[in-house]
Amino acid sequence: MKRKIYFIEGDGIGREVWQAARPVLDRAAELAYGSERGLEWVELLAGKKAFAATGSYLPEETLTALRQADLAMKGPLETPVGTGFRSLNVTLRQTLDLFACIRPIQYFSGIESPVKHPERVNMVVFRENTEDVYAGIEWQAGSAEARRLIAFLRDELGAQVDPESGIGIKPMTAHGSKRLIRKAIQFALDQGRSSVTMAHKGNIMKFTEGAFRSWGYELATEEFAGRVAFEGQETCPPAQVVLKDRIADAMFQEVLIRPEAYDVIATPNLNGDYLSDALAAQVGGLGLAPGVNMSTDLAFFEPTHGTAPTIEGKDLANPGSLILSGALLFDHIGWPEAAQKIRRAVELAIADKKVTVDLASQMQGAHQVGCVEFGYILLRNLERA
Ligand code: NAI
Repeated sequence: MKRKIYFIEGDGIGREVWQAARPVLDRAAELAYGSERGLEWVELLAGKKAFAATGSYLPEETLTALRQADLAMKGPLETPVGTGFRSLNVTLRQTLDLFACIRPIQYFSGIESPVKHPERVNMVVFRENTEDVYAGIEWQAGSAEARRLIAFLRDELGAQVDPESGIGIKPMTAHGSKRLIRKAIQFALDQGRSSVTMAHKGNIMKFTEGAFRSWGYELATEEFAGRVAFEGQETCPPAQVVLKDRIADAMFQEVLIRPEAYDVIATPNLNGDYLSDALAAQVGGLGLAPGVNMSTDLAFFEPTHGTAPTIEGKDLANPGSLILSGALLFDHIGWPEAAQKIRRAVELAIADKKVTVDLASQMQGAHQVGCVEFGYILLRNLERA
């Protein structure tokens, strides 16, 4: 059985990490299932490569294919900061309604981490992906639109806003919040996880982040009665999953001090962006941080890192994040043996201390290898994984 995987190479280090990653994913499937199963790769264009070929950063053919797809993977896509250029990632997430960004954060033994007990970190972040300040509704300071909106806020709603402000809007809905929290709770139940924590800033932003929290408890009551208990009200016999919530700033402290108390995290868009990078840093950085963006139809796998422009073309990039995203894909399609082989191959490379510079700089006595070589090492490790 062949599974068709659409893939986008991406900008910056995208090409390098794909060159190392694809053979590893193919070989893992081959070793696990022989010729019975395999991946059929179909390239789609986006980003600079697409612009060079078609004059568009996100050609319509790419979107058309993705709208009908169930599986895809992408490398990082560049978004220049502070220009009018709309983020391709945000456009993809919104156009395809990829409402859940799911990022597991797990420690690989042997990596030196900035925290004392990285092995206690074993969390899965569910980040809402389509709403919040990331909805992209904002106007530049001094623009006609910003001035008009400020006048409306003052005249119609009695809100005083400095007329020179830039303005951003933060929409959050019950529908968007609930479908994300539902997915997180269902995942926790399916995977035997102990808790789901909603991380929000509801003490300040009451009708967006505060509402996210309220909608979460409402959903749990309506749809998961008997299977989910609220923190402090655990029943006997215990419900399978405990639902709790934390204010976002406290949450950052908590995941540093007591990571073992947190398991699945459900959070709005901006908090989730910050939290997943911070958690990735706790276990060794972005080079080993996989992820997936999901709609109801499409699972779109991608590394957490960006295009890393300062190391582009230098054979320094760690392809581990993309390769581990491939392991998530194997889990998702029910090929756990291939997923397990990949994780084992990464563990072996770390145990042998043969790693790319991002990890080597955090490991005593490490032997630094390039992106290409790291791919070869994983290929060899697969044989004994
Ligand atoms: P970045 O993730 O590209 O880089 C942050 C730091 O991590 C840099 O020091 C970089 O060298 C290092 N790094 C990242 N990936 C690495 C890897 N695989 N191996 C070794 N070191 C790695 O984040 P930054 O600099 O904020 O963003 C650069 C560009 O990437 C921007 O245009 C941004 O919009 C885009 N970006 C795209 C993402 C996506 O496509 N999902 C996600 C994050 C950023």
